[in-house]
Parts: sequence; C-alpha cells; structure tokens
Amino acid sequence: MSAQILDGKAIAAELRDSIRQEVDNQVSQGNARPGLAVILVGEDPASQVYVRNKKIACEKAGFNDVSEVLPADTSEEDVLALIDKLNADETVHGIIVQLPAPDHIDPEKIIERIDPKKDVDGFHPYNVGRLATRMPTMAPCTPHGVMTMLAKTGIPIRGLDAVVVGASNIVGVPQLLELLNERATVTVCHSATKNLAEKVGQADLVVVGVGIPEMVKGDWIKPGAIVIDVGINRMDDGRLVGDVEYDVAKERASWITPVPGGVGPMTIATLLENTMKAAYRK
Ligand code: GUN
Repeated sequence: MSAQILDGKAIAAELRDSIRQEVDNQVSQGNARPGLAVILVGEDPASQVYVRNKKIACEKAGFNDVSEVLPADTSEEDVLALIDKLNADETVHGIIVQLPAPDHIDPEKIIERIDPKKDVDGFHPYNVGRLATRMPTMAPCTPHGVMTMLAKTGIPIRGLDAVVVGASNIVGVPQLLELLNERATVTVCHSATKNLAEKVGQADLVVVGVGIPEMVKGDWIKPGAIVIDVGINRMDDGRLVGDVEYDVAKERASWITPVPGGVGPMTIATLLENTMKAAYRK
C-alpha cells in the first residue's frame, strides 16, 4: 500500500493566509507591520535560495522585509554591530542570520547576541532552555513546523515510539524536545549511533534531518510508520532528493512528506508565525 502524503505545501499556504489576515487586522487597528531582518553573509548558493524564499514569503504576508546581504569577508565585529543596531530598532521584530556563516564568524556569538525576544529562529540558549523546560517561547522553525503539520493532519503523537535521525541544533535536538513535550518516546540517532537501521525499523514515527541524500533506506521503515524527511539535497543532475529513499519508503509508510513540498514550506510559514508572535506579543 502506498503512503498518504503529508502535504506541507497546502498546510503552509493555509497558515500563511491566516497570518496575512491577522497582520491586516492588526494594521487596521493601527499596529505596525511585523518587521523581519534576514542577514546573509556571503554567497552560499543554497543559503541564497532560502533567503530569497523567506523574502518572498515575508512580502506576501504583509511584513516589512529589512534583509541585509553582506559580503563574505565582512568581519564578525561588523555582523555583531549590525545585530546590535537591529536589536535596538523598534520596527524590527525578528532577526535571523542565515547559517552556515563563513568560517571566520562564530555562530554561537551571533546567536547569543540576538535579543531573545527577536530570536525568531529560536536558537538562543534562552529560547532552547524554555522549550526544554516545557515553557516554549520561540521554537525553532523546522521542528515546530513538523509538529504543526502533524497536528493539522490529525496525527496524534502521544505514546508513539519516535526516532529522530540527526542531532543538530537546528533540527534534531529541538525536534526531540518538541516530540517529548507531546509525550512521544524519543530516540535521537547520530553519526556514532550503532545499528541505525534496526533503530529506525522500530519507530512509529521517523524524522530525518542529516543532509545526506537517501541516507535512510526505504526498507528500514516499519510498515505503517510515519516518515518526515527534513532533507533537501540537490543532485548533480539537478534533481532534489530528501534524506530518505522516498520511492521505497512510500510503499511501507502510512504517511510520508514529499521533497520538495513537505517540510520546507512549513519552516518558512513557522518563521512568519514566530515573527508575528514577536511583533504582537505584549
Ligand atoms: N540554515 C538552515 N536552516 C536554517 C534555519 O532555520 N535558520 C537559519 N538561520 N539558518 C539555517
């Protein structure tokens, strides 16, 4: 049997519409439009695509876009000074620095410099700590977008055996916290994990975010499992593929996210949601 598709594209479009309506509503009451600053340092081609997509989504949602593209040789000091300026700017409600940054820039320093109230990526230790102590404020966009997609599709999480493949700060670790907060039993796998195939094969829900094309094989998936593929990898022939071997996995899973059109659009819609929250939170 072929899996049902978790239609991130459609769910994200709905979420963006409701955000647009809320912004119009707030503006008609005399409130400001949410302002989002996306900072890109350098010319990483994948980052350029992400930043362009974020910019388009921002404009469509009625936000003010105050993005800045800086040359690859911009000093760390200058990036920190820009963050200080944006922290102090009342028209800017959200600030993100697209990662990875060039090697001479320390991402930890950047993340800690952003005012936690404007940290719409949810990467600042304050916001990660809030999520870990079940008092979420600003949650990282990709894992939170996954949770929204599951909730809107009507898939209950409580009691599921979940396996997260990848333990990054952007995906794996906050995904663990999100799933745990919804009462799943969670195993996080990474490059030192033994018997990965076996662990994946026991999962009712698998979330994969490793950035390696088709790393999780389709025949590892337990029949009836839910498969969430966070990966998006451009192949030499131009094709986009996920971190899961889709064609085989979809014959075993009950639900699966397509690549593209699954998790990616949810990440961007969640960024807008976080920025709107930052703008109108009293
Ligand atoms: N690079 C890959 N994903 C992300 C993200 O969600 N936020 C930022 N700032 N950089 C990223």
